[in-house]
Amino acid sequence: MTGPSTGSPPLLEVRNLYKTFGGVHAVEDVSFRIEPGEAVAIVGDNGAGKSTVVKMISGAYTRDAGDILWQGAPADIDDPDDARRLGIETMYQDLALIPDLDAPGNVFLGQEPYRRWLGILPVLDRSAMATKTRELLERVRIALPSMERPVRQLSGGQRQATAIARFLLSDRARLIIMDEPTAALGVQEQRKVLNLIHRLTEQDITIMVISHNLEHVFDVTDRIIVLRAGRVEGVLRTAEVTKQDVVSLIMGGGTA
Ligand SMILES: Nc1ncnc2c1ncn2[C@@H]1O[C@H](COP(=O)(O)OP(=O)(O)OP(=O)(O)O)[C@@H](O)[C@H]1O
Ligand SMILES: [Mg+2]
Repeated sequence: MTGPSTGSPPLLEVRNLYKTFGGVHAVEDVSFRIEPGEAVAIVGDNGAGKSTVVKMISGAYTRDAGDILWQGAPADIDDPDDARRLGIETMYQDLALIPDLDAPGNVFLGQEPYRRWLGILPVLDRSAMATKTRELLERVRIALPSMERPVRQLSGGQRQATAIARFLLSDRARLIIMDEPTAALGVQEQRKVLNLIHRLTEQDITIMVISHNLEHVFDVTDRIIVLRAGRVEGVLRTAEVTKQDVVSLIMGGGTA
């Protein structure tokens, strides 16, 4: 499989990735490319290796073998900070938000702005944080009921938007990886997250999304990578295939 010869390298390329867990081959010889601005799904049955692939890219797991290239150059991704420095952000199910903090507190966690009270005492600049958070959420067209509410009181979709706003704050995010972003949500909330993905790709942010929901995959992606038993079973252009084609590949049979 070769990408279009546009002259510019893919944003991300993985070559011959391997990962074993105590004798289990979770990922075997996985190679693929992601072009800048694309939205790509990784699909496959339970245990196919989807999360493991993504965790090697985000630095959560170290790979046993294989190469990761970022914009054509070999990338040393050994931990999540390495990935983040390159512009790779990953949204996990637990979202890594602090439940008792409000949205601005979560967005600015670890990089809070301070102002001087009476020109002397440093105090948290809450209004600047709230204003910026509102602005970042507007970019993905999500409004929160309140900027003061702890995020544990927000809906699943609102929490995901808060996590995304945190990625956008640094202005560094080029690739956002989402592992099952719609799985735990109600129908309306799922729709919000799908819209969020559309808004992000409009802003030239590349998306890799793991999902079991083929409706959602067909709604938001340009291409689909099918994993089966740790290997790439196929790479498809979403517009050129049917859900049944994808299901057949997931199940490992050709078409019936
Ligand atoms: N930390 C781990 N320790 C041991 N085995 C693991 C670990 N993580 C994954 N595995 C194994 O590796 C294989 C691939 O798991 P992975 O989580 O990547 O699958 P997945 O495609 O994300 O599945 P799901 O759709 O259920 O989330 C499975 O057999 C799993 O049991
Ligand atoms: Mg998984």
